[in-house]
Amino acid sequence: MNARPPEVTAQTLVEHLDALAAHSAPGAGVTRLVYDDAWCRAHQWLAERARALGLAATVDAAGNLLFHDPALEPGDPRPALFVGSHLDSVVNGGRYDGAYGTVAGLLLAAAPRAPADLPVVGFATCEEEESRFHGSFIGARTLLGDARGEELDQVADAGGVTWRAALEAARARGRAAPLVEGERPFRPLFRPAMMLELHIEQGPVLEAEGLAIGLVERIAGYRRLGLTLTGEARHSGTTPMALRRDALAAAAEMILAAEAGARAAGEPAVATAGFVRAIPGLANVVPGGCELWLETRDLDPERLDALDRGLRERCREIAARRRVGLEIEERSRMEPTALSWTLAGVAEQLARERGIPYRRMGSGAAHDAMVFARAGIPATMVFVPSRRGVSHSPEEFTAPDSLAAGYRFAAELIARLVREGGAILAGEAARP
Ligand code: HGY
Ligand code: MN
Ligand code: MN
Repeated sequence: MNARPPEVTAQTLVEHLDALAAHSAPGAGVTRLVYDDAWCRAHQWLAERARALGLAATVDAAGNLLFHDPALEPGDPRPALFVGSHLDSVVNGGRYDGAYGTVAGLLLAAAPRAPADLPVVGFATCEEEESRFHGSFIGARTLLGDARGEELDQVADAGGVTWRAALEAARARGRAAPLVEGERPFRPLFRPAMMLELHIEQGPVLEAEGLAIGLVERIAGYRRLGLTLTGEARHSGTTPMALRRDALAAAAEMILAAEAGARAAGEPAVATAGFVRAIPGLANVVPGGCELWLETRDLDPERLDALDRGLRERCREIAARRRVGLEIEERSRMEPTALSWTLAGVAEQLARERGIPYRRMGSGAAHDAMVFARAGIPATMVFVPSRRGVSHSPEEFTAPDSLAAGYRFAAELIARLVREGGAILAGEAARP
């Protein structure tokens, strides 16, 4: 690498996050859906920034972006440490979710290393939020080669644009490489041996406890259901209450049942109705149809199954009592996932040595690290505090000093991991 990377300060991180946030669709906060115009511009900006730092910026067939030493060529069989996060956002999201870890991945990949160290590959996954496609982590899965060709045609956005078509448009803008022929169109370009994702906490724990760092042990899984309710559309002024089969009123009861179910299960169970649409959606028509999405999450697999099962049963009871047809489709799911105990231990040791106030914790939010961990790659996450725990909102905020503290911690952790990588991996393998 020829260019000397700059010293990374709070100011450096804020400038990078500001530049990335400028690539957003109009509206409050950041809206950057996979392969849309803002996403393509952000992607290009990151690639240019990587080259300015002396790195190669390589795109894969799904539009994941990899930052690496130009001497490390795609296909190199040597194990590498992956560090990064996702480039896409929710609609009207914040400027830190995914972006912080992506910027950190870029800058950490540019840090100087000794020849004997494990190579470090920074990454920006193309998609994590499911805000455009319900494809279950299409970014991290394709990065690891774990996606089938037929998914490209099965997965479509709300406007009916398939993953294949959206990807093709991004490819035409230079934001993705050609698909590989055959059933497995996505091939990993490098061999991840360990993974680190730096992220804002998105919850209130670190701020409330006055801690600088969270070390993630376990991440909650989820079930996302799409419910289609079919009642009877009738005149709102002439249909007595007793004769109605109101699909929206049934959905309202289901939403409250979801809330009650999660409350009864107790923390960390949560349930959310993030989307509801009445059909035809007029003031003077009793809703004859309704589309409703319900999501449940928990850190424990059995509790999550019980919560999901209980909610489905309650919805069926409500539909039967109200004489409303109900179809339930599971749109996506992720299992609760443990991250690497060994890597968290290395991070904990580092935090102790440096006197950094930290805790080990679970994550209610899902992350790309889950996909790596489920693929058997030791993965770890470092959280920094979120103001008032707010995220998936334009109000998302993390103080610049907290961003810098997290970055410095991650940089030191990586230095340790790339130096002692072999021994650490052996420790991981030896765990029962
Ligand atoms: O939905 C999630 O938990 C994540 O922010 N994608
Ligand atoms: Mn998110
Ligand atoms: Mn995220």
